[in-house]
Amino acid sequence: MFFFSFVFLSLVSIISSLDNGLGKTPQMGWNSWNHFGCRINETVIRETADALISTGLAKAGYTYVNVDDCWASARDSTTKFIQPDPSTFPSGMAALADYVHSRGLLFGLYSDAGYETCAGRPGSFGYEDIDAHVYAQWKVDYLKYDNCNSRPTNCTIKERYERMRDALNRTGRPIFYSACEWGEMLPALWFRSVANSWRTTGDIVDTWLLMLLNIDINNLFWSFAAPHGFNDPDMLEIGNGGMTYNEYRTHMSLWSIAKAPLLIGCDVRNISKESLELLTNPEVIAVNQDPLGLQGKKVRIDPYNGTEVWAGPLVDGSMAVVAFNRNNDMSQAVVVSFSDLGWKTTSQVKVRDLWARQDLGQFQCNYTALNIEPHGVQMLKMTLIASE
Ligand SMILES: *[C@@H]1O[C@H](CO)[C@@H](O)[C@H](O)[C@H]1NC(C)=O
Ligand SMILES: *[C@@H]1O[C@H](CO)[C@@H](O)[C@H](O)[C@H]1NC(C)=O
Ligand SMILES: *[C@@H]1O[C@H](CO)[C@@H](O)[C@H](O)[C@H]1NC(C)=O
Ligand SMILES: *[C@@H]1O[C@H](CO)[C@@H](O)[C@H](O)[C@H]1NC(C)=O
Ligand SMILES: *[C@@H]1O[C@H](CO)[C@@H](O)[C@H](O)[C@H]1NC(C)=O
Ligand SMILES: *[C@@H]1O[C@H](CO)[C@@H](O)[C@H](O)[C@H]1NC(C)=O
Repeated sequence: MFFFSFVFLSLVSIISSLDNGLGKTPQMGWNSWNHFGCRINETVIRETADALISTGLAKAGYTYVNVDDCWASARDSTTKFIQPDPSTFPSGMAALADYVHSRGLLFGLYSDAGYETCAGRPGSFGYEDIDAHVYAQWKVDYLKYDNCNSRPTNCTIKERYERMRDALNRTGRPIFYSACEWGEMLPALWFRSVANSWRTTGDIVDTWLLMLLNIDINNLFWSFAAPHGFNDPDMLEIGNGGMTYNEYRTHMSLWSIAKAPLLIGCDVRNISKESLELLTNPEVIAVNQDPLGLQGKKVRIDPYNGTEVWAGPLVDGSMAVVAFNRNNDMSQAVVVSFSDLGWKTTSQVKVRDLWARQDLGQFQCNYTALNIEPHGVQMLKMTLIASE
């Protein structure tokens, strides 16, 4: 059994964060890539904006409508301004941004810190100021910046991301900056002053094992997350069909406690009741959006039984906890020892089940989450009431 001492060292307080006023808590919204890939157009983006409202997802906090790769076609030969694909976005991006704004939502676009995007559309390297200027004119609120087709350039990865950071800043419009360099250069260590969030991993895949791979890698960098700069283990797959309900509930729980961006990746125009339920639990979202903004991490691993306890502090002094059964075929109990949360074993602790939205009572020394199904979790809020 491994034990991790529970001290939240704020390694980030010495590095100043990107000063655009955005990303105080992890970003929430929708992105086209996980479900649609390149098969996007202005109709599907408008209908998605409408669906975010009609399903209540917007009200739950999912406000960014982010268009991923494949919206751009070419640069104008004289102005070098980037042009939307005329066959799929014939009304243009300014009109689409206006529509999204008219629904009370925010609008995001995608580009790349290389010569071409991953899908072979024009990249922004060498055109940062022109592109940033055009985005600001269109009233773009968010930029996801990818890392394909970038070699050879005369710049390091960090410099390529800084070039766009500075170009966005020069527009005078606050634009959320989401760096997507796949964790290559360990961006958690030095992207705090560059971006509002940085990917720590390769792309998520809609399977149990690859979802876990991303959140396990992301966990290594827990101490580098704080308001205005968060680790990003990639977007949500809930609703896309590759995992069971239970597994998606675990996905949502781990992303929430890890202060990961909550970017929905399914077709919300046709979302199931079960997926909506997983995405809109207000107490689970409150953990993700807690103003303290510190990333929860693994505090105990039992590799023999395949159980884990994840925990992280909340602004009111309580702890968010995920009691996780990674075992493939056996329901089992997961014990949360209060000493693993940094509390005395004599502490009296109030425990609430966040998914069930139900108080479970007061406990001393430890709390045992009983009968957690394979690949399942119990997500809890624990509040110290007295320490003898
Ligand atoms: C640009 O950067 C300066 C200095 O960091 C900051 O004060 C300002 O708010 C930034 N502006 C935008 C639009 O991000
Ligand atoms: C727009 O994209 C959606 C999703 O891929 C597709 O179902 C629809 O047929 C497309 N519409 C047009 C007009 O291309
Ligand atoms: C690197 O290339 C970019 C884009 O062509 C150019 O703007 C920049 O001045 C170059 N930097 C150096 C140090 O040569
Ligand atoms: C809507 O979702 C259901 C299952 O949830 C699926 O069978 C159906 O094909 C989807 N329809 C569209 C248009 O995507
Ligand atoms: C792990 O499993 C063994 C065998 O089932 C059991 O005796 C032990 O109590 C379990 N440990 C924990 C921490 O649940
Ligand atoms: C849990 O706490 C109880 C007292 O409330 C104690 O008897 C028991 O040994 C503890 N179990 C573990 C695994 O620490």
